Amino acid sequence: MNQVDYLRISLTDRCNFRCQYCMPVGEKIQYQPHPELLSNDEVLTLVRDVFAPVGFKHFRLTGGEPLIRSNIVNLIAEIARLPSTQDLSLTTNGWLLADMAADLYSAGLRRINISLDSLNPATFAKITGRSTKDTWDKVWCGIQTAHQVGFDPLKLNVVVIPGVNDGEVLELAELSIDRHWHIRFIEFMPIGNDALFLEKGWIDSETIRGQIRDQWGLESAQVKGNGPADIFQIPGAKGTLGFISQMSECFCDRCNRVRLSADGWLRPCLLNETGQLDLKTSLRQGLSVTTIQEQVSQLLLLKQDINYKERESGSVTSSYSRTMSQIGG
Ligand code: GTP
Ligand code: 5AD
Ligand code: SF4
Repeated sequence: MNQVDYLRISLTDRCNFRCQYCMPVGEKIQYQPHPELLSNDEVLTLVRDVFAPVGFKHFRLTGGEPLIRSNIVNLIAEIARLPSTQDLSLTTNGWLLADMAADLYSAGLRRINISLDSLNPATFAKITGRSTKDTWDKVWCGIQTAHQVGFDPLKLNVVVIPGVNDGEVLELAELSIDRHWHIRFIEFMPIGNDALFLEKGWIDSETIRGQIRDQWGLESAQVKGNGPADIFQIPGAKGTLGFISQMSECFCDRCNRVRLSADGWLRPCLLNETGQLDLKTSLRQGLSVTTIQEQVSQLLLLKQDINYKERESGSVTSSYSRTMSQIGG
């Protein structure tokens, strides 16, 4: 079993996009009222006084869309300056990145993952639920700006959906040839928009690799990632291709992360909320950080058990009541 030292922190359950695969279409999403969300101080206290002492070294900020969270730059600066923080990263839809990339970098952020599901502005507008075609331009500009200010690695996430963007696999993979970018193909999961999943189905990573192999060849990249992606490379390419295959391959036994939701619930697994802890209430009721550390340590033991069972059964035993944007991807 891997050491669990990676905390994904969702900073908000809100998002300025409506990606088809992430949110139910037409249904009203219940957002948490602001006082129910962890404040920046509470997030910092948890990172510094609870998770770091328990051994966490990697922190990723997610959403919803984390860049709409007020004062995120200050929070990043505070977390980045902690001696215990080895790695601080962010997952974003890129909409606000052109304006914010330089400040994020100055605050100490070094790694960014950005969703880019299509290179076609009309398809992108359809996937992201934003009707204007300039959405793609703005996100692309954000990616370029992030690259220019020095973010490295820069990872681009593509959720492959049959009949929507599967025809663009080669074009997207090609981005990795001349750029030191990491393009990651993610298998579509039935979480967030079950109706779309039932309608479209999903494509497994090996099929995508086959398309790329036929075009350019494909080799295993000699780099170790820190997440669930299997990493490959087009021979001679500057960047890499990652495949996140949670549907076709159970990688629970190498899972190294837990998730903190914006309203302070710590869950052991993306798809399993068994034993989740209400850390916001623990903090607000004044429990000591030592007691909260003990609760977290207990959850990590439980997680070992959950992941072992998931590995044995070959699949995750889904028990979730939130969409992807509410859990933090
Ligand atoms: P790094 O490896 O640190 O760059 O991060 P990452 O790839 O885990 O982060 P990112 O936010 O870009 O996640 C991309 C996708 O990977 C998510 O949307 C999920 O689809 C998938 N993923 C990440 N973590 C897990 C996990 O614990 N379980 C499952 N099933 N999928 C995950
Ligand atoms: N299946 C797979 N990946 C998803 N994401 C959101 N919803 C889904 C889903 N149903 C991914 C996005 C983003 C990350 C945070 O979560 O592509 O990169
Ligand atoms: Fe899209 Fe991410 Fe927002 Fe979901 S949370 S709608 S995947 S940008």
